[in-house]
Amino acid sequence: MQKSMEKIVALCKRRGIIFPSSEIYGGFANSYSYGPLGSEIKKNITDLWWKRFVRDRQDMVGIDGPILLHPKTWQASGHLDNFNDQLVDCKQCKTRFRADHLVESALDIDCEGLSDADVGKLIAENEIKCPQCGAQDWTAVRKFNLMFSTEMAKTGEESTAYLRPETAQAIFLDYKNVTDSTRVKLPFGIGQIGKAFRNEITPGNFIFRVIEFEQMEIEYFIRPDGWEKLFDEWFTAMKQWCADIGLSAKHLHDYEHPKEKLSHYSKRTIDIEYDFPFGKKELYGLAYRTDFDLSQHEKFSNQKLRWRDEGEEPFVPHVLEPTFGVDRTVLAILCEGYTEETLEDGSERTVLKLASAMAPVKVAIFPLMKKDALPEKAQEILKSLQPLGLIQYDDGGAIGKRYRRHDEIGTPVCVTVDYDSLKDDTVTIRDRDTMEQERIQISELKTVLEEKYFA
Ligand code: GAP
Repeated sequence: MQKSMEKIVALCKRRGIIFPSSEIYGGFANSYSYGPLGSEIKKNITDLWWKRFVRDRQDMVGIDGPILLHPKTWQASGHLDNFNDQLVDCKQCKTRFRADHLVESALDIDCEGLSDADVGKLIAENEIKCPQCGAQDWTAVRKFNLMFSTEMAKTGEESTAYLRPETAQAIFLDYKNVTDSTRVKLPFGIGQIGKAFRNEITPGNFIFRVIEFEQMEIEYFIRPDGWEKLFDEWFTAMKQWCADIGLSAKHLHDYEHPKEKLSHYSKRTIDIEYDFPFGKKELYGLAYRTDFDLSQHEKFSNQKLRWRDEGEEPFVPHVLEPTFGVDRTVLAILCEGYTEETLEDGSERTVLKLASAMAPVKVAIFPLMKKDALPEKAQEILKSLQPLGLIQYDDGGAIGKRYRRHDEIGTPVCVTVDYDSLKDDTVTIRDRDTMEQERIQISELKTVLEEKYFA
């Protein structure tokens, strides 16, 4: 089955997973709201990540740093100088493009490392036309810094602040406070989940590339010797995470950045790519950032950011950085789960085959009718299952229709309360993927569901 982004986007809107933002004002380009179910999916991701990588590990602590950091941060990190894309505008229709992307898609030439003038020359010499209006009337290619800036109330040299383009820098700025206030020992990591902002020239593909997004990042501080082994361990942990959130290995690919294309701070980077319907694209990354960031912050802040153990010269720790985008995680699990099936009777169903841990609604409870003692019995069962997560009561329409509704949002199991339930305290459970039904005792329901779906 060819998965289509149009259908996934439509499902998200229809079922309250993700909406285009600011719709009552005609929309606001490339920004989205997570609706009642989407925010549950996001929370499932961030909660599981925090538990797995922060709470359950003795070598990790967490922080929650600010979005606006001291402006010198971005001088030190290199973002003010290097966090640029090459921009070109069509003078006729005023559409703005990534100049390197224009060349790459028209000529299949990699523009990495080419100057603005060289990219401009390629556009002119090869008579590349505007994909929007067909004109061939371009501005000069120029650099565009991707950081959003804002003016602070105070005046002076540092009155311009930047919305952080990555959560990582807030961690480096807190390195000293964390090591001074906790009992961490090398190697150890600091994890953080939070928003990042990038003024992307050509965002797109739904929530794949947006201007405001969320990252889950770890800076793992190490001694430089033996970084290779820890790098491999983190890569394995990231792959295990992918499997546990339901991404199949056949849709995942490793992309080792060639040496000449590494970011200014990295000695080794591997991306984990996912087969999205619009192509194989970066989902997560793992980088060995050496001691670049802490050394730069030492230089710009005049503070020592060293590790000191007894009998050892103090040194600037090196860093491994596993980075995970929350929005790309949501998109990948939606793409992975989206399935259309033709049933034996010829009817069609759309089903989101999400891992139970990711499903927004864990169990749906259906009273067969809205009368007699069925609603009360169903509400009683709902309360008893609440420790499993979001349980939804649904009494709208025929049972078959309710199944379809919950198939579309990925509810792993539905429980029907009927007249026999009132007599013998049993219910029917129906599995989302196999559609098989089973009659079980209400007294055993929670344990059965826990073992089968939420272990
Ligand atoms: N601290 C390293 C860093 O920020 P990155 O590869 O630029 O590295 C990390 O970003 C992750 O953040 C990406 O792997 C991706 O999941 C997510 N991400 C980056 N830009 C994004 C955007 N514009 N929209 C949505 N997610 C984005």
